[in-house]
Formats: sequence, C-alpha cells, structure tokens
Amino acid sequence: MQILLGQTLTFTDDPFRVPPADALRHERRGAVAIEDGKIVAVGPAEAVRTAHPAAPVTDHGDALISPGFVDAHVHYPQTAIIASWGKRLIDWLNLYTFPEEARFGNPDHAAKIATRYFDLTLANGTTTAVSYCTIHPESVDAYFSAAQRRGLRALGGKTCMDTNAPDNLSDSAQSAYDDSKALLEKWHGVDRLGYVITPRFAPTSTRAQLEALGRLWSEHPEVLMQTHLSEQHEEIAWVAELFPEAEDYVDVYDRFGLLGEGALMGHAIHLSPRERDRLREAGASLIHCPTSNTFIGSGLFDMDGLMRAGHRIGLATDTGGGSSFSMLRTMAAAYEVAQLRGTPLHPAQLWWLATAGSAHALRLGDTIGTLAPGFEADLAVVDLASTPAIAQRAARAETLWEAVFPTIMMGDDRAISATYVAGRKV
Ligand code: GUN
Ligand code: ZN
Repeated sequence: MQILLGQTLTFTDDPFRVPPADALRHERRGAVAIEDGKIVAVGPAEAVRTAHPAAPVTDHGDALISPGFVDAHVHYPQTAIIASWGKRLIDWLNLYTFPEEARFGNPDHAAKIATRYFDLTLANGTTTAVSYCTIHPESVDAYFSAAQRRGLRALGGKTCMDTNAPDNLSDSAQSAYDDSKALLEKWHGVDRLGYVITPRFAPTSTRAQLEALGRLWSEHPEVLMQTHLSEQHEEIAWVAELFPEAEDYVDVYDRFGLLGEGALMGHAIHLSPRERDRLREAGASLIHCPTSNTFIGSGLFDMDGLMRAGHRIGLATDTGGGSSFSMLRTMAAAYEVAQLRGTPLHPAQLWWLATAGSAHALRLGDTIGTLAPGFEADLAVVDLASTPAIAQRAARAETLWEAVFPTIMMGDDRAISATYVAGRKV
C-alpha cells in the first residue's frame, strides 16, 4: 500500500451528457491509495491517510493527479519520421511512411524504436496506447515486448496490406490471417497486453484479405479491430473506385464483417448521413486524431454532431501523421478544430476524451482511465505551472478549469511531473 497526495481529478460521469460540473470529482488536497497495482481509495487527503496510517506517502504538492492518458490510435513505427514535411496523405505514406515501415523486418530496429516510443509516451503521461505495427510479425513482438518490460497496458497489431503497397511491405490474404492469428494467440491477454486485428485501410487490402480478417475477428470477438476511415477526399474517391459494389466507405468494411462493437475507426471525418447512422447502429468507436488531421490537411472532425448523435469517441495522437506525442497538445488541437466548426469544447470534455472517453472507446472503461477503487493505477501527475507563460496565467485562475486550461493549450511533456504504471513511478 502507498498513498499519493496532490489535487485529484477524475470523472464520475460523461461531461458530454451531463453538465461538466456534475461529471467530475476534484479534491484540492486529495489522495490516491494504491495496492498491488490497483487503486484502493480516492478522496480527501486527511480521510485517506487516516484510514491507512501505516502507508508510505508521496506528496505531489499542488500538481494534479489524473488518470494516465489513453492514446487510442498511433503508429509506433512512424516515431522517427514524425513531423515530415509533405503534401497529402497518399504522398506522405509513399514518401516517408512506407520506406520507414519497411525497416521493421529487422528486429533490432523494431526494438530500438519501440523502446524510444514508450520513453516518449511515458514522458508525456500516456500510459496506454493502441498502435499499428508494420506487416512484420517482428514489429509486433518488439512492441509488446517493450510494453511488457514496463508493465504497461498496451494494445496493438500487425498492419495488414496485400495490395497498393510496396512489395517489401506486402503480405497476402492467407499470411495476414495466419500471422495475425499466431500473434493474437501469442500476446492477447498476456499480462496487460491486448491484440488488435489491423487491416491498414480499404485501399491496401484486397477483398480476400478483408474477408480473411473479418473471419478472424468473428473467431475472436474478444479482441479489438482497428482501421482508417474517410480521412481525406482523395482517399474516399479511391475507395469508391476500388470497391464499386459498395454503397460507401463504411459499407466496404461492413461487407467483410469489419464493423461492430470493438471496431476503432481512425479519423472518420467525411461521413455521409447513412455512414454515421450505420456506424452508430453497429456500435463502432470513432477515433479523433486532431493534430494529424490539421497536419496532413484532412479536415475538421464533427465532434459536436457525432457526440449528440450518441457515437462513442476516443482521442488520439496518430503519431507520426500526428505532430505530437503529447495528449495535452492533442487536446489543444481538438479544442481548436471544434472552434473552427463553431462548437467549442469545455476543458472537462477534452480531459475526459483523453482519459475515460478513450478508455470507453477501447472497451476498457471499467479498467483504466478513471481514478476510482478497482481501476488500474496508471496515473499522470500534471504540473499546472510548468512554464513561465503557463504559470503566470494559472496564477490568476479562480476555478479548477481556469487553472487547467492553460496547461491544455500550452502544455507538453514539461507539464508531466511523474507517470505511474500500475502504481510504480517510471
Ligand atoms: N491511412 C492509412 N495509413 C495511414 C497512416 O499511416 N497514417 C494516417 N494518418 N492515415 C493513414
Ligand atoms: Zn493512423
């Protein structure tokens, strides 16, 4: 047993459904008690300390103890090519992404980048990521091995592509099925690791491959499935050309059993009314990647409309299409995108998206993303005065959210004063 002291912030409800003030619990002087990697108590500091008088105490002072951030869509193999100057999605994939991903058949390279990736995410307070790997099983082994060594809850899968990709980055329908199945059996449920079936997106899979991966998912409904959907107009037009028999982009996945609860649809920006209805009816999660959507020039995700319609939505960096490893930077971008649509987000909604919201999108809403007894003790300790510019603004704050918002808008890894993984400071 150990006790952490600081301001504590967590959600008791969804701030998109109830007023933000009714959706959260904040203690100005709070405590989190942790035992065996799980949270056992959260409350006012004095009450928690009195209940557990023998527990050692770590005092984080004025810093905010939050659930660790949950990044619902990343490409760890793109770590080294983040912030590559370029044009549109397809050019960016061909020019930077595919040449770098081709290197991940080399286990040493994969291990080096996986280690670097988790160093960066932990420094940013991100305690769970959902990653695309490359077509190489070695890239999946490197990712899960690196996460396992650190005791992380991490999800990911082999990216499958059997058409419209370079030869050295192509598998086949059969090998995608066989490799994905073997990796799923090897890693899913080991420690805190979870496998995710991963067709990259419709343009890089044949019908046979989509069918094979849909079959694998039907055989293993306990795992998640991730792919990209309707990120750019050129991509959507290409999908219409490649799959003329499908009603629309969503229907391509639907036809092959790749739509349902546990489907993580990255981007989902340009959707028709029919596609929105079908995604909601199927219970798929939509993953908003705002720094990527502005960086690659993809478009403005309709957070307000989709939330009102009842969609389940997570938040993600999409590194290296995204331009930051920080979920704080990602919250800022989500705020700015919403502003450009004329539908501002409350800071409580942004923080919820980066923690409990993303956890719910991954079907892990009862496991991570919330400070409450029984949840895993993955935590980010956030300094709300991490730079002179932030500190001088926060000093004027009269409310919790006035104190937090400068860190959302201007914060980065300097704001993360500690990260805890299963109760262990890393
Ligand atoms: N669509 C297909 N692959 C990718 C990728 O790696 N990044 C982004 N942003 N979009 C994609
Ligand atoms: Zn992506």
